[in-house]
Amino acid sequence: MIVLQTRVAPSERAAIAAAVEVLIAGGLVAFPTETVYGLGADAANAEAVVRLYEAKGRPAFNPLISHVPDIAAARRLGRFDAAAARLAERFWPGPLTLVLPKAPNCPVAELATAGLDTIAVRVPQHAVARDLLAAFGKPVVAPSANRSGHLSPTTAQHVFADLDGRIDLILDGGPTLVGVESTIVACLAEPVLLRPGGLARVDIEQALGQPLAEHPGAGDAAAAPIAPGQFASHYAPRTRLRLDAQSVNAGEALLAFGPTLPAAAEQAACVLNLSPRGDLIEAAANLFSHLRALDAAGASAIAVAPLPRTGLGEAINDRLTRAAAAR
Ligand code: TXA
Ligand code: MG
Repeated sequence: MIVLQTRVAPSERAAIAAAVEVLIAGGLVAFPTETVYGLGADAANAEAVVRLYEAKGRPAFNPLISHVPDIAAARRLGRFDAAAARLAERFWPGPLTLVLPKAPNCPVAELATAGLDTIAVRVPQHAVARDLLAAFGKPVVAPSANRSGHLSPTTAQHVFADLDGRIDLILDGGPTLVGVESTIVACLAEPVLLRPGGLARVDIEQALGQPLAEHPGAGDAAAAPIAPGQFASHYAPRTRLRLDAQSVNAGEALLAFGPTLPAAAEQAACVLNLSPRGDLIEAAANLFSHLRALDAAGASAIAVAPLPRTGLGEAINDRLTRAAAAR
């Protein structure tokens, strides 16, 4: 792995250009934001997003924050109501993430939003992050650049210690100023505080002219969904899922995996294969987009072929189980 020192552009154009090359190639770049260091990947490249989850270890396919350089770019990802527009105008760029209804034609991979109809968006303030986003010209998903379960990194050295050998490049922009993650506010109905963070609640309430409802843990994918549909952290298809299907019933849709289909696959109303060659990276990348497509097919149920539980298969099976239970 390469570590490139970069304070502020324009003197370090070469470092930014190298990082952009990595993102274009589907690789992983750690970069400073004003809150903590993020681990970035091309948000539209589902396989790059799979690698990002893998690099963090214990992949869980939790929804990620999409980072963009300005409000105009954010509007291509999510729909802003009046409160969201007010908060964005007031606090972006800065340590605030907004959870919004996904915009039509949002280019972010389904996997990066874990199949949800909502998207978390943020415009960071750090000069290096801004230069990187402007130069790449497309949304970058970035969780904190630490191994799963470890502390969020506030220096390039933290990132190096945690992720050396697992990512392609670190942009070293010095210690981060804020030191805690961004505050997350959902603007889906009444604005709700999902995660306290670098922007104080009072500042948000002052800008809104109203108190913020609070749902502790709702921004945490491990917590139980509080208002089903609205803050659900798990994708919930309308069609019933039948897991570990050894055979297909007439009228069912089939979510297949690998070269061998379950018995009676020809009875399926429609078939999508997560990975015909049996590759778990490809399967993870296709998981939520295929589920969504089959859900829209109007079948009586979605039969899901057995998937290996090894490696990424553990996370894929976990998400399928949650999707099956979430209805
Ligand atoms: O300061 C930050 O926000 C840093 C820097 C790198 O931007 N990023 C960060 O990402 O903290 P991460 O992945 O560690 O935390 C993102 C949080 C997770 O708790 C996730 O569940 C939540 O955002 N989240 C993402 N999309 C969501 C959605 N559609 N609805 C509710 N919560 C969401
Ligand atoms: Mg984190």
